[in-house]
Amino acid sequence: MKVLGISGSLRNARYGAGSRQLVEELERIKTPEALKLYLKEQTRIRADEFISAGLNSGLPFDAVYRNLQKLKGDKGLSNSEATLAAGLWGVLEKGGDIAHAGLSRYFPMNGESRYLDELKQIVLSADAYLVSGPVYFGDRGSLVQAFVEFITADPELRAHCNGRLYGGLAVGAKRNGGQETQLIYQLIDMCNLNMLAVGNSYETSSQYGGTVVAGDVGTAWDDDYGMQTSIGTGKRLAQIAISRENSRRHKLKDKVKVGIWLVQDSTDKRGLQLIQKWIDQHQAEGVEYKVIDLTTEEIYRCIACDLCPTHHATHNEYACIIKSKNDFFLKNHEELIATDAILLAAYSPIDRSSITAVYQKFMERTRYIRRGNYLLGDRLVAPFVISEVNANQNLHIRMLTSLIRHHTIVHHPLIALEMDHTVINEEHLLAQLESFSKNAIALTKARLLRDTDQSFTYYNPVGYQISAERNRTDRNNGVLDHVLSTKHTALVKEKTNRLTQG
Ligand SMILES: Cc1cc2nc3c(=O)[nH]c(=O)nc-3n(C[C@H](O)[C@H](O)[C@H](O)COP(=O)(O)O)c2cc1C
Repeated sequence: MKVLGISGSLRNARYGAGSRQLVEELERIKTPEALKLYLKEQTRIRADEFISAGLNSGLPFDAVYRNLQKLKGDKGLSNSEATLAAGLWGVLEKGGDIAHAGLSRYFPMNGESRYLDELKQIVLSADAYLVSGPVYFGDRGSLVQAFVEFITADPELRAHCNGRLYGGLAVGAKRNGGQETQLIYQLIDMCNLNMLAVGNSYETSSQYGGTVVAGDVGTAWDDDYGMQTSIGTGKRLAQIAISRENSRRHKLKDKVKVGIWLVQDSTDKRGLQLIQKWIDQHQAEGVEYKVIDLTTEEIYRCIACDLCPTHHATHNEYACIIKSKNDFFLKNHEELIATDAILLAAYSPIDRSSITAVYQKFMERTRYIRRGNYLLGDRLVAPFVISEVNANQNLHIRMLTSLIRHHTIVHHPLIALEMDHTVINEEHLLAQLESFSKNAIALTKARLLRDTDQSFTYYNPVGYQISAERNRTDRNNGVLDHVLSTKHTALVKEKTNRLTQG
């Protein structure tokens, strides 16, 4: 399984033989400490190259840039490349193979494109993609944009990328410089190409990917936490992509349980009716859909406990402080976590005077599930929104960014567009439902097959001292290990019960 690392900055140092050399250099690094030294040395080389190219002798930056282009491209790392190198090292740590492509070779500063056949072959030779780039105006820059357009315009590349895994990395000059917005836009781009997106790993608390803070050339190596998020993204990407590869040799004995959780609907139940019609029509092989109409359920709001979940419970135990006997989560905890893949559904009309919407309440109450060691981790998820044209709610984007925090794998949102009481893209919607079902089967197998390291989905309470203290106590008294090993044992049992070779 080969991950292609793509760096999207015009300040890139590596291309051609330099890309291959980068791979060899990373393969020789054995420890995080050695990686840090390597990134320090290489980003320093790039900074020195800028200086030697005339930066310190008062040459205008465009002349400096032209001088830099005369270099061989075989040493040094820009900030995006250093971030990418950390991510690719994470891939190697999990046993994946790596390759590198620097987009500045294909999309140079004059705005044109070149050597696109070469880029195409590189993309076609990879199984998964890790894309790193600078934050420009809170978004990804024009090189990554050009790369996305390049794939979108080519049917062969589109077909190849369909169902492949993707992870993202972003580097910006400031804390809150837009690393997350960059990653979200990039994630949406890649999902629109039907890739399946993952965020970073449990060590750094499962967000949208790697985020590094660095402005000047030569500085990225120094952001330790940012580099950890990047290594974690590479690890997570590799882990899922490898188990996905392995899953091809296995079959499921039973059907994949796809939960369609309806969190917003009109009083006349338009959303529910349409969903029911489509799943009756679809009849996907190997998949069973279970619609839960949450709009009729009692859902208390999250009261934001300092300690969440209430205690380190085994996975099948409900551990939220809300104990009202009619509360949806209390009644349905086991069913929720037994779901293999999730479509979070909503009907979004223009007139919202008569809708019931529990989306936000529902999402915030899932906190105990996330913090209970990612009980919905590694599930394929997608927003499923039926939107009247001009409803302007953008629910699918909010759903997507919340769902990925459950350590899930994100599929292209399913969006039905309605006009004058008619769904105008039904065929497209059904094709997306088919795609979701197919990938749900593959990723359920991958989930059951993945790394047997029981701590893999441990929730690390980054930013919460009270929770961290409890984790320390429960580590020492064995409670946390018991909870994680019970979850792990259940996964192994599930694997034995549900998977077969061949
Ligand atoms: C056009 C432009 C826009 C930028 N916008 C942002 C921004 O919105 N937020 C931020 O944190 N940094 C921003 N930066 C800074 C870069 O993201 C930062 O310098 C980064 O380290 C560049 O990575 P590179 O060396 O790999 O090109 C911007 C830089 C440029 C040139």
